[in-house]
Amino acid sequence: MSAAGRTKRITPSAIEAMKGTRPIVSLTAYTTPIARLLDPHCDLLLVGDSLGMVLYGLESTVGVTMEMMIAHGQAVMRGVESACVIVDLPFGSYQESKEQAFRNAARVLKETGSDGVKLEGGEEMAETVAFLVSRGIPVFGHVGLMPQKVNTTGGYRSLGRSNEEADKIRRDARAITDAGAFALLIEGTVEPLAREITASVDIPTIGIGASPACDGQVLVSDDMLGLFSDFKPRFVKHFAELAPTISQAVEAYAQDVKARRFPGPEHTFQPKT
Ligand code: KIV
Repeated sequence: MSAAGRTKRITPSAIEAMKGTRPIVSLTAYTTPIARLLDPHCDLLLVGDSLGMVLYGLESTVGVTMEMMIAHGQAVMRGVESACVIVDLPFGSYQESKEQAFRNAARVLKETGSDGVKLEGGEEMAETVAFLVSRGIPVFGHVGLMPQKVNTTGGYRSLGRSNEEADKIRRDARAITDAGAFALLIEGTVEPLAREITASVDIPTIGIGASPACDGQVLVSDDMLGLFSDFKPRFVKHFAELAPTISQAVEAYAQDVKARRFPGPEHTFQPKT
């Protein structure tokens, strides 16, 4: 990327400064062509580890590797001109120690050219977040529902209904904010708690299944484009229905091939006469 391209991009500090101005627009992106389409409309593109399920058909994000995140981070960076690009640190790449986290976060920044990393965790990750930020790595925190912990938390359900759960999420949000994160993703959390956290922290909250009270919203692009017609969680809105559109296109192609209607003369090369 050219130096000119880089200076046009929205920085993590600019995202932080957007709190209280207007809602922040964010979506996930994993590939160059989709990043190109999303970039003009989004403040922040997240190369989420949801790519494990969305692109690779994995059961959860636990199997996602550094190599996958770096390859897709590089692909997204090739399609972006203005959005801030944040890459998820995958499960097992940062939980062991703050040194391990720094090593892998630095590798992501060096090898992709992206603007920062996201990592899941609350109080237990605060020391790591402070370690990364003080050494030059912008960190996007992630509290509430944490998909990388699905094997210990037992599933995907919205959180914060009991006092105990709400207190824990409150403490997590405070700890990650105080550690120096530039923004905080809140996932799968009841509205009153997301509203309270948003009012109590001085960095932007970006919600997914965490109500309109957050400072911004993020969705998995493939979800909001209606690419998965078999499953739609409550917090997702389909802004398009691409699954049936794709099915119809492929059916029409198959019929044309079988009937020898495709390729036609206009798609066929002839020798020079
Ligand atoms: O990996 C991901 O897509 C996420 C979502 C919660 C946005 O972190």
